[in-house]
Amino acid sequence: MMQVISFVTQKGGSGKSTTAASVAVAAFEEGRRVFMLELDKQGTLTDWTESRAAEEGPEFERIDSTMLEKAISTLKEAGYQLVVIDTPGADNPHINAVMRVSDFCLIPCRPTATDLKGCLPTVQSLIRLDKPFAFVLTQCPPRSGRVDEARAGLAALGLIAEPPIVSRADHQDAMAAGMGVTEFNATGAAAFEIRQLWNWIDHKLQPKVKKNVKAA
Ligand SMILES: Nc1ncnc2c1ncn2[C@@H]1O[C@H](COP(=O)(O)OP(=O)(O)O)[C@@H](O)[C@H]1O
Ligand SMILES: [Mg+2]
Repeated sequence: MMQVISFVTQKGGSGKSTTAASVAVAAFEEGRRVFMLELDKQGTLTDWTESRAAEEGPEFERIDSTMLEKAISTLKEAGYQLVVIDTPGADNPHINAVMRVSDFCLIPCRPTATDLKGCLPTVQSLIRLDKPFAFVLTQCPPRSGRVDEARAGLAALGLIAEPPIVSRADHQDAMAAGMGVTEFNATGAAAFEIRQLWNWIDHKLQPKVKKNVKAA
């Protein structure tokens, strides 16, 4: 079965591309056949792919949103297990098309009032489309009350993915090197958090199995 996740929010700089790349690589490292689609004309991930030296990893293509449905069905036929979509920082009809083809959407959000506010139109679109989604707190200061405040603000709006992604140079350096953080510094804290985040997402993607609860 192929599953599609997308990183969406009109707020630029929230960490869509950075988080998408590292999550895609982490899923690949765990044995998934992963394809990344970039719908952003800015081409952050195109640049990332071009700097990439690793022989193995997720496949990649930048496409126009008009090609999205065709691309998804082609990838399904080709046997990919996970598609990770990165989107531009704009709220336009193309993003709705992305949401529609996604099984689960992730909204990266920095723990600031402007980012929280900036998420709202995206949340409204997702609710309208009845799409499962979660916030990913990104670029968080380590050990700060800000993260708890943001968590409290977002909890009223939807699920929050775990763990919050702390602001770390590894993320920036990995992007510049064309790597996921788990490749760039496999034993670092950033890599650890991204693996946990992928596992959290993966868990949400699993079809719900009815638990047969037995008395102990
Ligand atoms: N967890 C992180 N730690 C440090 N820097 C980050 C992190 N996530 C993103 N960044 C930086 O923030 C900036 C915006 O990230 P980017 O992924 O390009 O956002 P978007 O795709 O939403 O516009 C980039 O300079 C990136 O290196
Ligand atoms: Mg981007």
